[in-house]
Amino acid sequence: MEIQFSSSFACSLLIILVFLGCYSEATAGRGGIGGGIATYWGQNIREGRLTAACATGKFKIVNIGFLSTFGNGQLPQVNLTRHCSPICNGCWNVSAGIVNCQNDGVKVMLSIGGPHGNYSLSSGAEALDLADYIWNNFLHGHSTSLRPFGYAPLDGVDFRIERGEFSPYYTLLARRLYDYGRQWGRKVYLTAAPGCCFPDNYLTKSLYTGLFDYVWIRFFNDRQCQYNSGDPSVFRRSWMQWIHSIPARKFYVGIPASEEAGDGYVTPAVLIRDVLPFVKRSASYGGVMLFDLSNDVQTNYSSSISGRV
Ligand SMILES: *[C@@H]1O[C@H](CO)[C@@H](O)[C@H](O)[C@H]1NC(C)=O
Ligand SMILES: *[C@@H]1O[C@H](CO)[C@@H](O)[C@H](O)[C@H]1NC(C)=O
Ligand SMILES: *[C@@H]1O[C@H](CO)[C@@H](O)[C@H](O)[C@H]1NC(C)=O
Ligand SMILES: *[C@@H]1O[C@H](CO)[C@@H](O)[C@H](O)[C@H]1NC(C)=O
Repeated sequence: MEIQFSSSFACSLLIILVFLGCYSEATAGRGGIGGGIATYWGQNIREGRLTAACATGKFKIVNIGFLSTFGNGQLPQVNLTRHCSPICNGCWNVSAGIVNCQNDGVKVMLSIGGPHGNYSLSSGAEALDLADYIWNNFLHGHSTSLRPFGYAPLDGVDFRIERGEFSPYYTLLARRLYDYGRQWGRKVYLTAAPGCCFPDNYLTKSLYTGLFDYVWIRFFNDRQCQYNSGDPSVFRRSWMQWIHSIPARKFYVGIPASEEAGDGYVTPAVLIRDVLPFVKRSASYGGVMLFDLSNDVQTNYSSSISGRV
């Protein structure tokens, strides 16, 4: 009798705990049920500190952008605009933000490339060198000099390659980073931000490897595929083509977080009414990527769609 009582008590307790667990996951919008919001931090000081962004509980993934100088014999360098300067270790305290975000359950990625900067990969050797540099300076490796963002290991690397000549070596870079993770028993997340027109010149070949976890398709600055309420079929066709062609775990709809952030802005109301119901039918739908946080803090976009993603 006593045993029966305690086991059924334990059982109900378990059910309550599981329920609470699911409930808190769903309300925080962090995985499991439904989608999440990803964003970019680092390109404008008005967005505030990384810690504060993650503490809002609105984001599942934050990409720190950008590592925008590499290749061509250049020393790799991050550019976080006026947040800090990597010269003389000025960005060392980004470490605290990374740790705080991770403690809040937010994944933090290093985004390489970006819309500005001077980057390229012109040989296999250069790709392998960059992988070593990233592993040792931003992930779980060790560097002989001070790491730009301090000791905190990031969760992975985001490929935001959108400039320069096409290079086949990004595939090698992705594979090397993935292998480093395997070798040291650490998951290295790989994500990418291709333009919405399929195929994307810079990234499609790398994405075919199946090594990428999340792909945020940039549905902006390209009228051939960005959302257009006059003719939503263009957007829909592009989404379908991406998710059926590329073997990645999850796909996010990437949109500008304000009208100034890019051509292809959709209001939160239109996103909720017209875009989300369509993309959510795909099993590999992962959520929405807002570009970028500095625009989101102006428009409050993430708050307007939170709970609906
Ligand atoms: C960093 O990026 C910003 C914006 O893209 C650019 O204006 C600035 O010149 C860059 N800084 C350096 C040191 O390259
Ligand atoms: C790092 O510290 C400097 C100086 O205290 C501060 O101005 C800056 O905002 C900090 N950066 C971050 C990302 O916390
Ligand atoms: C990029 O860097 C290379 C090597 O330092 C230099 O030759 C080239 O002029 C730079 N390109 C731009 C657009 O700044
Ligand atoms: C942002 O939107 C949320 C929900 O719509 C609201 O609660 C919050 O006060 C807004 N914040 C600002 C700064 O407008």
